[in-house]
Amino acid sequence: MYSLSYYVLPSIIILIIIRKYRETKWGKCKNKVRLDGKIAIVTGANSGLGLEIAKELAARNAQVILACRNLEKANTACEYIRGTSKNSKVMLIPMELDLASLYSIKNFADKIKEHYQEINILINNAGVAFPNTKRVETKDGFEVHFGVNHLGTFYLTNLLLEPLSASSGNNARVVVVASSLHEKGVVNVNDLNSLRVTKKTNLYANSKLMNIYFAQELSRRIKSKKINVYACCPGWVYTALFRHSIKWYHYFLIAPVAFFFMRSPKQGVQTPVYCATEPELETETGLLYRDCKRYNSKVIFYDNIATKLWEESESMINKIIKKEL
Ligand SMILES: NC(=O)c1ccc[n+]([C@@H]2O[C@H](COP(=O)([O-])OP(=O)(O)OC[C@H]3O[C@@H](n4cnc5c(N)ncnc54)[C@H](OP(=O)(O)O)[C@@H]3O)[C@@H](O)[C@H]2O)c1
Repeated sequence: MYSLSYYVLPSIIILIIIRKYRETKWGKCKNKVRLDGKIAIVTGANSGLGLEIAKELAARNAQVILACRNLEKANTACEYIRGTSKNSKVMLIPMELDLASLYSIKNFADKIKEHYQEINILINNAGVAFPNTKRVETKDGFEVHFGVNHLGTFYLTNLLLEPLSASSGNNARVVVVASSLHEKGVVNVNDLNSLRVTKKTNLYANSKLMNIYFAQELSRRIKSKKINVYACCPGWVYTALFRHSIKWYHYFLIAPVAFFFMRSPKQGVQTPVYCATEPELETETGLLYRDCKRYNSKVIFYDNIATKLWEESESMINKIIKKEL
């Protein structure tokens, strides 16, 4: 009894205060911008950050297209948002999109262009993280981190530039959900498909670095169009992202660190939602954000790498599309 009141309880209170203090540093999207009449696409919207982003945008009255590789999961996500939303008129459209297949991406974009004249927000959120021990490939034979996290995002965004540039009112916004782990990444433009990996290769981090290079290059290439591009890091968030690498005992090992550093999905989506809605960002494009403010990466970015990554990505896609047609 004595030790409980003198040591345990005060320690728990101190830990909770530290956690709460850390939470104040994570940034909050404070604007109340309404998205009435706006159409938003969120990739990977059936779980984790994507689900929470879709919910936030729907709460602001956007019509949200949940672009998911499994339609059943997309429907379940729609039901979940409808069941938990304060907005009784949420507009949600589940659609199939597999970023591991260039043909699925093309089909999805064709359907979007057939049904919508304009798209106002595209959140490139879907992503994968596998252990580097075994090569996993997309349906088109690309290393999965490169194929899904970069190439799929690259192809989808390019196919949607037409409806994005038709956005009425404010500029359309493309948000690329990257990660601070990009700082551990390398873009080897001579081996984008990672045929040669070493123990040091971090395929996930490499793909997240590509996300930022892509956002930078896209913003340069579409300067004349009414589209802004934002790359962002949501922070370290409790989701299923690392489910392929995490073993049960890792939960015990990382629990103390997670208690201080890990955000809930609701806390994690603050920066992506900020990038998608904040009026003050209307004049900014091609930059990186974290904690609802600009983030200065430790990486030195080279324009020639961004250009080469773009050209190589284009050429790889063209080869597949031509081959299969
Ligand atoms: N969690 C973090 O700490 C963290 C930190 C920094 C950045 N991020 C980034 O945040 C984004 C969202 O991740 P998360 O943490 O929310 O993880 P998550 O819960 O695993 O969500 C990833 C989403 O992407 C979807 N996806 C995977 N492969 C796909 C494909 N081929 N086609 C279409 N959708 C696909 C998943 O669908 P299924 O459910 O069908 O697999 C899922 O909906 C990722 O880009 C990740 O890199 C996360």
